[in-house]
This record gives sequence, C-alpha cells and structure tokens, in this order.
Amino acid sequence: MPQPLRILITGASSGIGRALAEHYAAAGHIVGAVARRGELLSDLAERLDSVTPLQGDVSNAAGMDQLIRAFARQHGGIDLVYVNAGIGQRSEIEGWDAGRTRQIIDVNIIGATNTIVPAVEVMLAHGGGRIVGISSLAGRTPLPHAAAYGASKAWLAFYLDSLDMDLGPRGVHCSIVMPGYVATPMVDGADAALVSAGARRAAALIADRVARGERIIRFPRRVAMLTSLATLAPRSMRISSQLKRLAKRKQQRGRSQ
Ligand SMILES: NC(=O)c1ccc[n+]([C@@H]2O[C@H](COP(=O)([O-])OP(=O)(O)OC[C@H]3O[C@@H](n4cnc5c(N)ncnc54)[C@H](OP(=O)(O)O)[C@@H]3O)[C@@H](O)[C@H]2O)c1
Repeated sequence: MPQPLRILITGASSGIGRALAEHYAAAGHIVGAVARRGELLSDLAERLDSVTPLQGDVSNAAGMDQLIRAFARQHGGIDLVYVNAGIGQRSEIEGWDAGRTRQIIDVNIIGATNTIVPAVEVMLAHGGGRIVGISSLAGRTPLPHAAAYGASKAWLAFYLDSLDMDLGPRGVHCSIVMPGYVATPMVDGADAALVSAGARRAAALIADRVARGERIIRFPRRVAMLTSLATLAPRSMRISSQLKRLAKRKQQRGRSQ
C-alpha cells in the first residue's frame, strides 16, 4: 500500500473512531474524519494537521456518496476505510417500539452500506484497498437487551465476510473487528469490571492487526473465546452469565491487590 495511507473513518468524533483518527494522524497518514458533530471534528483537525473534518450523516446515502468521492478525488484514491459509526441502544421490552430498532438499522446497517458501496467503487477504480467494519462480540452470540444492536453487528460481519470473497480477487479486502467492551461514551454506565480497554489502546491494537492484513479481529481474547463457546453452549450457559462471573472475579482480584 502507498505511504502515507489515505484513510476515511466514520464516527470519528468520539470513542474508537476518534482514537483511530488520532493514531493514524500521529503516524503521518492522511485521515478523513466523518461524523455529524462538526465542532468535535474541527477540534480534532486543529490538533492534528493531517485530519480533514468531513461533517456528514452516514444514514444519508447521497451525502455519503458525495463525501467519499470528493475525498478520493482530493487525494487520488482511498486505501483504507473504517466503517465505525454506530449507535448502541439497549433493547427493552417495556415501552418497546419499532422506531428504536429502525434507528439502529438506519445507522448500523443502512449507514454502513452507504459507506461501503461508494468506498468499494472508488477502491476498485484505483486498484484496491481495505474496508474494516467495526462489528462487536455482541454480534457473535445473542445477548439480553441487545437484540437489535447484536443483529445489526452480526449483519455487518456477515456482509463484509461475504463481500471479501467477491472483492478479494479484485484487490479490495475486508476485515471485521469484534471488540468486547471498550471505554467510550457508548458504554457509559456499563459495569466497569467488564470494560477491557480504553479507546486508545483498542485503536492501537486494531490498527496493528489491520496492518497485518487480518480478516477477523476479536478482542479481548478471553471474552472472544467465551463468545465462541457460547455459540455452541445451551442457552442456560450463555455468555451473559459467563461475563458476570468474569466481572466478579476481576472485582475480587482488584479488592485483594
Ligand atoms: N465501546 C464498545 O464497547 C464497543 C464494543 C463493540 C463495538 N463497538 C462499536 O464501535 C463503534 C464505535 O463506537 P464507540 O464505542 O466509539 O461509540 P461512541 O463514542 O458513541 O462513538 C460513536 C460514533 O459514531 C458516530 N455516529 C453515530 N451516528 C452517526 C451518524 N448517523 N452519522 C455519522 N456518524 C454517526 C458518532 O458521531 P456523531 O454523533 O458526531 O455523529 C460517534 O463519532 C460502533 O460501531 C460500536 O457499535 C463499540
């Protein structure tokens, strides 16, 4: 791949996306940072010369098509795209309505498609590239209160894994990232003992494994292993109880240190 890389990151105003933008910009790569909150992107660009703020809403297909093609024209192509923008509301049965599920579909599924399709077209026209989707371990095994979110993340993983078969021979490769809990505003209020990494550490790990061309990137290892086992285990032994046990053990270790 050419150096510096030309990288587009959706959801770069916060959390994992912002940490990825900071990581790549610090290494001298060209970064297009996409999100709705333009003021946060401008702050990022003020601190880091190689970041271009690109205010946009991933659920707007025409807007994303324009934005991605303009970035590619400006830089002569795109090497790497992070499909990272996402929302993660809890699915509660009380007060349940279709609107909340639709919001998740609009951002996590339609928004991802609105990013992937023009990005792939640009990459095919310029000889190749890599699409990296930030899915989740919640997309690997069903979890309580995460029906819509988990399903949207399973969709992204399945979509990119299948696309990789079609596009790989033409030089466009896909990677799927499935993190456990990472400390970002999305998981504010989650049990601290379940959070495995800060956003900066997660971004460095992701960038390193993407640079090695890994197709499936799951972390942390222990939770990833549990989710793999949980896909085979009976429902009574499912991941939520395993995660709770893990959190309890971590808390006990913390108290005894
Ligand atoms: N944190 C975790 O534990 C965890 C675990 C597994 C997977 N993930 C995934 O990692 C990704 C990043 O999440 P995070 O934890 O970093 O959360 P976050 O801090 O809440 O960041 C979410 C980002 O998505 C952007 N976004 C949301 N809706 C958008 C829209 N319609 N158009 C453009 N951008 C939009 C937000 O920007 P604006 O609001 O400015 O638009 C923000 O930059 C998500 O896909 C999430 O599902 C997170």
